[in-house]
Amino acid sequence: MVRRRIFDVVKRLPEPLFRAIDALANWYVLYRVPSHSVAVDRFGKWSQQEVTLDDSIQNACAEVQEIADRSGVGFIDVGESIERRLMAQIIRQLRPTKVLEIGTFLGWTSAAIGLLLKQTHESDGFHLTSVDVIDVDSPVNGYWKNLGYIHSPSVLFGRLGLDRNIELVQADSAEYLATTEDTFDFIFIDGHHGADSVYRDIVLSSKRLKAGGVIALHDYDPPEVWFRKPFMAGPFFAVRRILAANPELKLIDARLNSDGNVVRSSCIAILSAK
Ligand SMILES: C[S@@+](CC[C@H](N)C(=O)[O-])C[C@H]1O[C@@H](n2cnc3c(N)ncnc32)[C@H](O)[C@@H]1O
Repeated sequence: MVRRRIFDVVKRLPEPLFRAIDALANWYVLYRVPSHSVAVDRFGKWSQQEVTLDDSIQNACAEVQEIADRSGVGFIDVGESIERRLMAQIIRQLRPTKVLEIGTFLGWTSAAIGLLLKQTHESDGFHLTSVDVIDVDSPVNGYWKNLGYIHSPSVLFGRLGLDRNIELVQADSAEYLATTEDTFDFIFIDGHHGADSVYRDIVLSSKRLKAGGVIALHDYDPPEVWFRKPFMAGPFFAVRRILAANPELKLIDARLNSDGNVVRSSCIAILSAK
C-alpha cells in the first residue's frame, strides 16, 4: 500500500527521473529478498547461444494466424510480431507437452502458445496452465473488458478450439508455484515485473521444471535499451542475481546474435543450463 502510494507520486516526475528511481527501487527491494537456491539440476541445455529463426517459422506463424483469422477472433497477434516468431521457434525447438505461463492478461500469448503446441503435437496431449492474480475472464474486472475487447480469454480459447488444452488459474504466482504439484517442460514468466517478484517466480519455477526444461522471461531489458524505450528493470535485475549465484546457468538473450550484436528489439530471454 505504502509502496503503491510512493509509486504514484514518483510516476508524476519527468520520465527519465521516474525511470531512474524505479530502477534503483527495484534494485534495492530485490537485494532485501533473501537468497534462495535455484533447482539448476532440472534445467535442460538450450543448444545454441541464440534463438535463431529457422526458415519454417514464417510459414508456421502464417498457418497459426490463418487459424485465428478463420475462427473470427480478430487480431490477437498469434503469429505476426517478432516476439511471436521467437515464441514459435522456442515451442518448435522444445516441443514441450506441459507449459506454464505466469501472467495471462488478455490471453493472447496463451492462445498463440496453444496454437503452436497444436501445430507441433500430433495428438491432443498437450496442456498449458496460465496463472494470473486477477480473474481474467471477469466481465467486470477483466482486462479484456476494460480495454474494450469482445472476447474474454476463455471465449478466445473456445473459438480457437483450445478450451480443453488451456487451463486458467486465478492465483498469485508465488502462491501457485509454491503449492502446485504439477511440473512443466517450459515456463514463460510474464507476471508482476518487480525485480523481487520476478526473482521469486524464477526460483520457484525452477522447482516446477521437469528435467530438461527451460524458463523464458518476457521484458528482459538490459541497461543499453533502458534509455531508448520505457524500460522495466525488474526482470533484468532478477536475472542478473540468479546468474551471479548460479554459474551453471546461462542466459540466451533473444535480441542478440551469436556475436553478441543486437539484431532485434524483442526482449524474450531464456534461462538454460550451460
Ligand atoms: C504483462 S501482463 C501478461 C501478458 C501476457 N503474458 C501476454 O503476453 O499477453 C502481466 C500479467 O501479470 C499479472 N500479474 C501481476 N502480478 C501477478 C502475480 N503476483 N501473480 C500472477 N499474475 C500476476 C497481471 O494481472 C497481468 O495480467
